Formats: sequence, C-alpha cells, structure tokens
Amino acid sequence: MIDFDAPSRRDLLAAIGKAGGAIAMYQAMTALGHAAPTQFAGPPKLSGTRKGASVVVLGSGLAGMVAAYELIKAGYTVTILEFQDRPGGRNYTVRGGDVIKEVGGAVQKCNFAPGNYLNPGPWRIPFHHQAVLHYCQELGVALEPFIQVNMNGYVHSEKVYGGKPQRIAEVGVDFKGHVAELLAKATNKGALDDTVSTEDKQKLLEAMRGWGLLNKDMAYTSSLQTSAQRGYDRPPGGGVNGAPTPSQIAGLSDVLDQRVWGTVSGFFNRTQQLTMFQPVGGMDMIGKAFAKRLAGKIKLNSKVSKIAQDDSGVTVSYEDVATGKKSELKADYCVCTIPLTILSQIEVQVSEPKQTAIKSLPYHSSCKVGLEMKRRFWEQDEQIYGGHSYTTQSISEIAYPSYGFFKPGPAVLLGAYAGGAAAYQFGGMTPAERIETALKQGSVFHKQYREEFSNGVAVAWSRLPWIQACASTWSDDLRKVHYQNLVSLDGRIVLAGEHCSYIGAWMEASLLSSIDAITRLHQRALAA
Ligand code: ALA
Repeated sequence: MIDFDAPSRRDLLAAIGKAGGAIAMYQAMTALGHAAPTQFAGPPKLSGTRKGASVVVLGSGLAGMVAAYELIKAGYTVTILEFQDRPGGRNYTVRGGDVIKEVGGAVQKCNFAPGNYLNPGPWRIPFHHQAVLHYCQELGVALEPFIQVNMNGYVHSEKVYGGKPQRIAEVGVDFKGHVAELLAKATNKGALDDTVSTEDKQKLLEAMRGWGLLNKDMAYTSSLQTSAQRGYDRPPGGGVNGAPTPSQIAGLSDVLDQRVWGTVSGFFNRTQQLTMFQPVGGMDMIGKAFAKRLAGKIKLNSKVSKIAQDDSGVTVSYEDVATGKKSELKADYCVCTIPLTILSQIEVQVSEPKQTAIKSLPYHSSCKVGLEMKRRFWEQDEQIYGGHSYTTQSISEIAYPSYGFFKPGPAVLLGAYAGGAAAYQFGGMTPAERIETALKQGSVFHKQYREEFSNGVAVAWSRLPWIQACASTWSDDLRKVHYQNLVSLDGRIVLAGEHCSYIGAWMEASLLSSIDAITRLHQRALAA
C-alpha cells in the first residue's frame, strides 16, 4: 500500500538538494542507498605538511604509486623502492618481446604481434570503481568498454547437453522460462496461498508469463516468441523467403546444472555488471601513467630486507638486485605495500599483533593463458565480439578481446583463467603444458583452435618470484582477529594494498586502502 503522507525518497532528496546543495544531496543519496559506488570520496585532501617531511614507499603497484603521487602533491619528499625492474606490480600487461621469469627457472618470451597483449592480472574495471576511474581521468588514461556480457558466448558443462557448448542466450532464456513455468504451476495449485496475497498472485502470474515467455497455457515451449530471445534455427530475413524458423528449447534438467545457471546469475554480481571498462592498449597504461608522474622517484631492482623504526624515523635496508650493493634509506614515515606473501619473509619492526596479522593471511593463486590466434575466427565464424565462454574444465573460461574488432591478422584471446585448486595445477605445469592444456580444453568450444594457434604465454601467479600468489583471501573469522591489526598505523609505518581492504583482488582495493593509509599517516605527521 502506498502511504501518500510520507514523502517519497525523490521528494526528500529534492528538498535536501534545495536546502543543502549538491554535496548534502549526494551524502543523503548515499545514506538512502542510492549513488553509492565504492567508498571513494575524491582524492585525499592533505594540507599543512611540515617542510622537509619524508616518506619511503615500498612497492610501486597502484597502492604504492597513488600514495607517492598524493604525498608528493601534499609536499612530502618521497622515494619508492621497487623490487622488480618495472613499476606497476600486478597492474601488468604482457606484450611481444616481454620476458616472464618464474620461481623454478622457467622463462617465457612473449611473441605476440605488435598491438596484441595479455593482462595477466587486472583486466576489467567496474563502473562503480570510482577511484580507478578518477585516476584514469586525472592521468589521461584512455578507457574503452570491456565487453563483460556477451550472450552469444558459450557455456559448457561436461555433465549436460551431452557435453556440447550452448550459447549463453539459449541457456539463460531456457532457465528463466522453465522456472517461470514451475512457479506459475505452483501458484495455480495454491502452493503459495499462505505467502502471496490473491492480488499479488495475479501479478506474479502475469510477471511469469512475460518474464518467462510462457504461452497462453502458461507453458514454456519452442516458439517464435521464445526464439526472439534465445535465437532461431533460421533467423528472420527479408523478401519472399524471409520467414524465420523457431529454435528448439532444451529441457529443465540441463539448465539446473550449476555451471549453466551460474553463468547467467554471475552477470548480476556487482563487480560484473555493465558497464565495465579497460584502458586502451593494456591495463598497465594506468601504472605507466602513474610512473610518468613519479619520474625519478622510483628505485627499481631494490630488494627490501629489513624495515626498522624508532622515535626519529624509519630505516629501510635494501639491496640492488642487479649489483648486489646494500644500502639503507631513512625517512620520517613508511608506506609499505609489499604483498604479505613477501612481507612475511622480511624483518619488520612492528607490534606483535601486526606481525601475526602479516603472517596469518592466506593468498590464492590464478593462472591466465594468452593464446595468439592467426585470425579472429570467433568473430568471423561465430559472431562473438568480446565477452566470455565458460566451462567446467580447469581453464574455467575463454575471454575474447574487447579491442581490435574486425581487424585482419592475429589476435590474442584469454585461453584460460584458472582459479582455486586449478590455479595450482596450472602452476605445477611447464608453461608449454599450460598452453597445451588451454588448447585442448578450449577446442571444446572452437574446432578452429589447433589450426589457428600461433603462440602463447601462461602466467601462473604462484610462480612469480615478486609475489608468489595472486591476491589475499580474507575470511570473516580471519578478519575478526587480524584485520584491524593489519591496517592500523604502527608508529611510523602503515601498510596498504588490496590485502588491507574489504574489496580484495581489484585495483579499487589498492587505491582505497592507500588513500586511507596516507590520510591517517598525514594526520599522525601533523600531530607529531
Ligand atoms: N578482479 C578480478 C577479475 O576481474 C578477480 O577477474
């Protein structure tokens, strides 16, 4: 029932907007559950910095670089120590000519054609990750759509449809059709009489008829109506022979497979919803844009071995991995973004609870395989422009490039995105075996695979020496015990990175965590 006396949210917001202006309205909208992207409230406002105050930042991933970028803006003297020979951390893109060295000695050289790339780590940006989008705009990083939802991709489960891949549109439409028919049946049998009012029952039946494309008998059947969503056997054309032929719907039991309905419901995840973006030219365009602003501030090839602090400052011991030269760097404060897989192996002078937190957080791995194909057969032969095909096999999915549509010549598709235990199975293979596994499993979708394959790279995160994992894995129980201890300011040292967030393996996590960390550090510096 509508309460005509109560102001609607819209009226209320309009009134707040009039009285308090845009900021008050934005805050009120957020409080009422609207317009809430991430917790990004704009770049940090750090004023009043003491002249000569210095910060050493450990790690030049996005957390480290945004910290340095904002602290320098605020007037701090900043130096970043980076273990690798490039800035960016997990903000990483592999292109032709790049070399990947693994723990265990495997070395891969990427042979992709110019312009082609693989983003082994972050590869898509949700529309609500406003911190990432803010810095892309501020740093001039061009973005283009990342095709997250493509209903013409495939879904494959070894257990159903005789193991034959189906177009996502077909399974998605069949799932809602069958469920709508069942719900309508249950409603008509009176099974919902106790829970749904008579008025709502009628509305529910109407909704099921429309949503599920049910016919006049409330049945989900093969028809031109259902084909208009799931696709036709012969699509409508023009002229004398233009009449379409409907497609055959599949049965209920196939759509009840988790991989089948899970593919469609996955698109509802907040982080998978449209619109998604990617930087033009590769994800590392973001890291490169930060690094450009930080020219001369990043010491590459610097392996940190000890982080100490006392009343007067922080001392970081490090070694130049190229020359073996050992040095110490002193600063007033330290922002440490080294992933915990590595930090837990370094001597850090922080409280016992923080040390325990550093050693307690597990990480998961991931493996991505990039396959360069001689031509875009998925576009040319199967009308798949970006998006994904999902499978129960260990590759988990194939993703088609969201750039270079229609271009002749070679293109790179993501041939595997293994997670969970499969990530470690892939990590236990040689790079050549990973590529072979991706080719074998991907052939389920595309018979052109073997003939069109040109070359590939396989990035197993558990084998990358500078991180030895992909990202942190918090559980509710771990969070209760360790989270606040991990993120708290400890004397002159603060940690930042995706591991210091409630978001996890997303660039937004690194940025938000770092903005929070430097804001607290700045307050501490002002109070000193
Ligand atoms: N952020 C990661 C992805 O987009 C997990 O796949």
